[in-house]
Formats: sequence, structure tokens, C-alpha cells
Amino acid sequence: MDKLIIAIDGYAGTGKSSQAIRLAKKLNYTYIDTGAMYRAVTLYGLNQEPRGTIDLNLLNHSLNHINIHFEEVKKENQTFLNNKNVTKAIREPRVLKYVSKVAAEKAVRSFLTKKQQFLGKDKGVVIDGRDIGTVVFPLASCKFFLTADAEVRAKRRYLEQQKIGIKETFEDVLINITKRDNQDKSRTISPLKKAKDAIEIDVSALNIDEVFHILYDQVLDKLEPRI
Ligand code: DC
Repeated sequence: MDKLIIAIDGYAGTGKSSQAIRLAKKLNYTYIDTGAMYRAVTLYGLNQEPRGTIDLNLLNHSLNHINIHFEEVKKENQTFLNNKNVTKAIREPRVLKYVSKVAAEKAVRSFLTKKQQFLGKDKGVVIDGRDIGTVVFPLASCKFFLTADAEVRAKRRYLEQQKIGIKETFEDVLINITKRDNQDKSRTISPLKKAKDAIEIDVSALNIDEVFHILYDQVLDKLEPRI
């Protein structure tokens, strides 16, 4: 049976990655977390600068020194930056503060887009992000776009962050999520946008299982079209 490229785009905190991981496990596909790649490049930029800021020009000229890969450790997908496990570090607020700026850089986007296209070249992938259905894999046969109210998304992020020991108030999470949405939507290169042929799902009032079943049913339809 032909394997698919399943693209899941949408707003921060809509549960894209949880759904993508679950779909990938169910289908025995590879999961590609493109948000983690943008975060890892941002962390590299922060590590270049002793004052906790980012020199975008310097970062743009250092991209060929950046190697990002994923590994499954204890059944969890982990992100490595130049062979160092950065899974937790890329979730820190200092990375979040800069990631949208870094993600708006043309050189960074073209560097990561090429890597993502390479990782997905053999299909059989579930890949989540903001521009997967529009730019990275515009020909993907299965595209989703997840949305939800900002408050619902901020609550999810707040609980996720608490679980891994990141301390940020709910109000700050909400402010940051809204700010990041605006930056991601308004950037000139590859803005966050629904692909014309993507299925849009508002997950505000749905639980994780309900969303999963909607996605999985659509995938099954693509794999075995019903007559
Ligand atoms: O999904 P996330 O929160 O881990 O993404 C982190 C940031 O990276 C987010 O602000 C938008 C950016 N991003 C992007 O611009 N394009 C992608 N394909 C994935 C993420």
C-alpha cells in the first residue's frame, strides 16, 4: 500500500504534536516535529551570544554548522542539536521569546525546509508545523489545519509546561501564545496559513480522543478510499 505524507498545521497549543505522535505510532510512520527544529536553531543562536540575545546575522551565517536529528529514547521522540539532547532546553521560555523572530528569517526557513523535505522524501511520515501543507509538502495527500480559542490553547500549554517543570503564569502563557500567533501569521515568508486543500478542525470543544478519531478516519479514507 502506498504510504502517505500527513501534514498537520495549525496554531500553537492545538495539540498538533500529540496527535501527530499518536497517528505516527498507529500507522507505524515516522514523526517529524518541525517546531522542534525551529526551536533548536533558536537555541543555537542563543548559545552563540553570551548576553541571552540572538545575532540574526551571525546565526544566518552559521546555519551549516547546525545539525538536528531526532531519536527515540525510552519510547519518546527526543531532539538533538549537534548530538546534544536538547528536548527540554528547547521548551524554555527564553527559546519561545525568540523563536518567531528566528522562524521569520528567510535563510533559516530555506535551510529547515530542505531538511524537512529530505526527512519526508520516502513518505510514511506525519509532520507537524505551520507551513507543511503550503510550502514544505504542498502535494501531501492528507492535510489538516487545527484551530482553537486562544484561552483553550493557553491552558493546554500552561499544563504541559507545568508537567515538565517550566514555571510561567497562565497570563504570561496566554500573552505569549497570542503574540506568537500574530508573528507567525503576519510574517512575509511562509506565514501560518491553511492550505486550500487542508481539512480544518476546531478542537476547542473536543477532547484528545475525539480529535484523533476525526484525523484517523480521514487518513483511512485516503489509504482505502470508500466507494
Ligand atoms: O510548534 P511549536 O510551538 O514547537 O513551534 C515553535 C515555533 O516555530 C512557532 O512559533 C512557529 C515556528 N514554526 C514555523 O514557523 N514553521 C514550522 N513549520 C514549525 C514551527
